[in-house]
Amino acid sequence: MSVADLFEPLPLLHGPPMRNRFMLAPLTNQQSELNGMASEYDLEWIRQLSEGGYALITTCATTVEAGGIAFARQLGIQSDAHLAGLTQIASLIREGGGLSAVQLHHAGHRANPILGGIPAPASSHTLHGVEALTTEQVERIRDNFIGAAKRAELAGFDGVALHGAFGWILSEFMSPQLNDRTDQYGGSIENRARLTIEIIEGIRAACGPDFQIGWRLSVERYGLRLEELRDITAAIFDREMIDYLDLALWDSAQIVQEGSFRGKSMLSVFTEIPRKGVRLGVAGKIMSAQRAAQLLDEGCDFILVGRASILQRDFPLQVKANPLYETPRLPVSADYLRQGGLSERFIRHMRGWEYFVQPGTP
Ligand SMILES: Cc1cc2nc3c(=O)[nH]c(=O)nc-3n(C[C@H](O)[C@H](O)[C@H](O)COP(=O)(O)O)c2cc1C
Repeated sequence: MSVADLFEPLPLLHGPPMRNRFMLAPLTNQQSELNGMASEYDLEWIRQLSEGGYALITTCATTVEAGGIAFARQLGIQSDAHLAGLTQIASLIREGGGLSAVQLHHAGHRANPILGGIPAPASSHTLHGVEALTTEQVERIRDNFIGAAKRAELAGFDGVALHGAFGWILSEFMSPQLNDRTDQYGGSIENRARLTIEIIEGIRAACGPDFQIGWRLSVERYGLRLEELRDITAAIFDREMIDYLDLALWDSAQIVQEGSFRGKSMLSVFTEIPRKGVRLGVAGKIMSAQRAAQLLDEGCDFILVGRASILQRDFPLQVKANPLYETPRLPVSADYLRQGGLSERFIRHMRGWEYFVQPGTP
């Protein structure tokens, strides 16, 4: 397929179609107020992106309850007090012509007590001296995900994207290493996936027929088993429970290193699953027009752009203008990011990412 195919619209099972194949990957940028309210910096970042030509813009990881926080100045959706700022974010995205989603997040055992987080492990063996969540507490967290989705709908978002990656709570529950529960949320993979499934079903029941549900999945580390995640994904596709799967790879060209899929591309393990009307996208080092187009050939319906969108807020428009477009090489100077419109808060956050901001640049 050619770069032009990236600009073909993509219908979703619910709600309006994506206008093209570019989705903004969720990007934590630690710019919100200390209580999780959207700040002027959040709004400016979203305003810049909204003019960038994306089909769907996902917010950064957004806390569904105060105790689930992982990062300082993390955006929140845990109370109605957060609605005003979220409504502004949704409006900005809509004005730019894109679809919008809030990434719903709970840090699970990795919640940060320094920030008011309450570590919430699936197992009593994960953190020294911290008991596993009780079944009632798991149900409360499930209900707070669903409540947060309703709030996202109220704020005017087209949907939500469940953060099921990187060892945060939904990913933690999937892991046989981190989840040794004996209630209905532990044991078999069906039980370990139950929290995710109940949240998806609860959101579908609580929100309107056009509301879109995405699910972000990662398959590395945290004791996750690729074979199990593949099977759960197949069941979710078969039941058309979500609008899209966002496969969160750090490198979209990654090869499976062990197990029954050893030697295959990680992406192909998922693109080969019959997906009915569910759409599939991948993230991971997509920094050029040609790589983006190639991923459609590899079976993706859309692509997710992370770091490239920090380097170039209007990555889709750049690709449209130039089928050979490539972002600048990393690392870049802080001044480059500043001139592009990134706030000092965001630049400070990016200094924490290896090989992004040239060390020593003011
Ligand atoms: C600064 C930064 C913040 C990120 N924040 C989040 C986040 O809030 N939620 C999430 O699921 N992934 C997050 N990620 C991962 C990205 O969404 C993406 O999957 C990853 O960066 C790979 O894509 P890329 O190579 O295009 O950057 C973050 C990545 C970066 C670089």
